[in-house]
Amino acid sequence: MSIVKILLTGATGYIGGDLLIDLLKRSSEFEVHVLIRGNERSSTFEKLGAKVIVGSQDDLDFLTKTASGFDVVISVADSMDVGISKAFLLGLEQGKQQHHHKAILIQTSGSGVVLEPTAGEYATEKIWSDLDVQAFYELPLQAPHRELDIFVSEYPQDKVTTAILSPTNIYGVGRGPYNRLSFINIAFERAAIKYRKAYVVGKGANIWSSSHVKDLSTAYIRLLDGLLQGTVSHGLEGYYFVESSQSRTAEVVQRIAQVLQKKGLLEDTNLVEMPDEVLQDPAVIPALFVEHPGLAKLALGGTSRVSADRLRKIGWKPKYEDSLDAVAEEIDVLLAA
Ligand SMILES: NC(=O)c1ccc[n+]([C@@H]2O[C@H](COP(=O)([O-])OP(=O)(O)OC[C@H]3O[C@@H](n4cnc5c(N)ncnc54)[C@H](OP(=O)(O)O)[C@@H]3O)[C@@H](O)[C@H]2O)c1
Repeated sequence: MSIVKILLTGATGYIGGDLLIDLLKRSSEFEVHVLIRGNERSSTFEKLGAKVIVGSQDDLDFLTKTASGFDVVISVADSMDVGISKAFLLGLEQGKQQHHHKAILIQTSGSGVVLEPTAGEYATEKIWSDLDVQAFYELPLQAPHRELDIFVSEYPQDKVTTAILSPTNIYGVGRGPYNRLSFINIAFERAAIKYRKAYVVGKGANIWSSSHVKDLSTAYIRLLDGLLQGTVSHGLEGYYFVESSQSRTAEVVQRIAQVLQKKGLLEDTNLVEMPDEVLQDPAVIPALFVEHPGLAKLALGGTSRVSADRLRKIGWKPKYEDSLDAVAEEIDVLLAA
């Protein structure tokens, strides 16, 4: 089999960085190029064995031209913007026509698409299955990621083979060279460290499905292998949640508080409602949430419960089953920073 040329975005980030490590283990089959902003981090990736393309996703013509040289694009850096994915799809389509490349897009999405605004007061019961394609069609276009998901899944499959990987609340310390931490559980950890309080939104009664970042990486690889072999569903039936556990926020924060109390960094483990100023604190909350007031409360207090039925059907077996197990290690990384 000829070597598969893969373009990966988001490799300086948490999810893309961890995935890169697994992709590079397959160097006899895959030639991995990372698209990064700025030259200063290039040598780090070159030392790891990746090839580097410097550029921004804001330049759509550049994305199309770049993608035309690849068999596969794994788009991790963005999960909302139709324009970016359209640019990749056009490039892949051109590469297939002109250079007989394979033309596969794996698009990262997110289970925020079924997020319920429960404000930490309760958790909704419904668990969404990715096999229930009909139910997805009834979701509003305004739901997070939805417009992009539709565009990618409806793309003509004779032109580009598309599949969507939809992470839940991803946890655990990543193996990538730059950002190694996620954002939901980490926001509660940062808040507890900075304010010395076990903050939750509302009562912390909301539930998120979750997955360890290393299991997410094996999901990308399993899907990639299946798409290259032509053995897994794609297009309209190509939506894959990634989930191996679920946890109530109150339990996560309770564990955070116990870990910090043991270190002498928290007096007690009583849960306290997170005030608005903490929900807007850039030292706690990701930039995107700070820019859009209301989003932090929605994400940290919301409920998103899904089942990775489609991935399990194609043989994906997660190794990690409880996000609570990762809390101590995440806190160690935060404290060492
Ligand atoms: N983490 C989760 O729990 C989770 C769950 C569901 C969905 N997702 C989605 O998965 C995606 C990746 O998440 P993450 O946690 O890995 O985020 P992250 O650590 O913040 O990484 C984001 C990556 O995107 C890159 N990027 C952003 N804008 C760019 C641009 N204009 N041009 C080129 N690169 C750009 C960043 O590069 P720089 O280093 O240059 O900034 C970085 O490599 C996001 O779309 C997120 O919404 C994440």
